[in-house]
Amino acid sequence: MKYLTLNNGIKIPQIGLGIYDLHEEEAILEAIDMGYRLFDTAQMYGNERLLGNAIKKSNVPREEFFITTKLYYPSKSYEFAKKGIEQSLHNLQLDYIDLMLIHEPYKESLEMYRALEEAYEEGKIKAIGISNFNEELYLDFIKKCKVIPAVNQVEAHVFFTRKDLQKVMLENGTLMEAWSPLCAGKHDIFNNEVLISIGKKYNKTAAQIALKYLLSRDIIIIPKSANKERLLENISLFDFELTNDDIEKIETLNENKSLFGWY
Ligand SMILES: NC(=O)c1ccc[n+]([C@@H]2O[C@H](COP(=O)([O-])OP(=O)(O)OC[C@H]3O[C@@H](n4cnc5c(N)ncnc54)[C@H](OP(=O)(O)O)[C@@H]3O)[C@@H](O)[C@H]2O)c1
Repeated sequence: MKYLTLNNGIKIPQIGLGIYDLHEEEAILEAIDMGYRLFDTAQMYGNERLLGNAIKKSNVPREEFFITTKLYYPSKSYEFAKKGIEQSLHNLQLDYIDLMLIHEPYKESLEMYRALEEAYEEGKIKAIGISNFNEELYLDFIKKCKVIPAVNQVEAHVFFTRKDLQKVMLENGTLMEAWSPLCAGKHDIFNNEVLISIGKKYNKTAAQIALKYLLSRDIIIIPKSANKERLLENISLFDFELTNDDIEKIETLNENKSLFGWY
């Protein structure tokens, strides 16, 4: 596994498993066996407890894991956010959370984030961040918060590359984490000719080329799969490199807009 370093010095695995809509403990245990250590959940997904149970069942020491969860609209105030943090710790059955995010921009994001900043200072959360903030919202947010977000988790994939947003974030110390890095299968991505033809050179699938593109830009990725073969595929990305020519071809796919109607 390759690790990136967050703005507070903490290391984050560059590939993780997103567990939205994943309710099979077995898949999480298989992923742990394969070497996944980053798991991305959220209060909204309703599977924090399932993830906590799998971590407990595995024989892997807690310190090896990197667990991300997110606060959402029921925590839309400072007081409710404080309760929300305690609720996630309880559900995950952990003493600390590695990364906690504000799930999406809310009118109350700043006061929710203040609760995250306090929990961060108390050591209950090792790194804090945001999700689904576009460039304008991000720039406004960092003017007002105390702790610069370590991560902004946003939609990013070969059809929506978000290079401008990433540039602004890197200038200010925030790493990009790509949600739906396989665009949840939209746009017939797994049969895309450009990705398939590049994949043939390296004996890799279209999915692997799409994920590798994001890795090559120092983006953290959290593809979701509940299938053993595809879990393995999505983590087997460090034995080849894309050339500049490959990257140029992949970037012709960019349509520069959300496939999910966000932003
Ligand atoms: N912050 C946010 O607002 C936000 C929003 C959306 C998602 N997320 C996070 O991002 C994670 C990933 O996003 P996502 O689940 O929407 O989509 P995704 O990871 O882009 O794609 C998942 C889909 O692709 C299939 N798949 C996975 N690997 C494959 C492979 N190698 N070849 C062919 N098919 C493959 C999966 O099916 P199988 O399971 O059958 O393999 C699943 O249907 C989520 O789980 C969640 O943690 C965050």
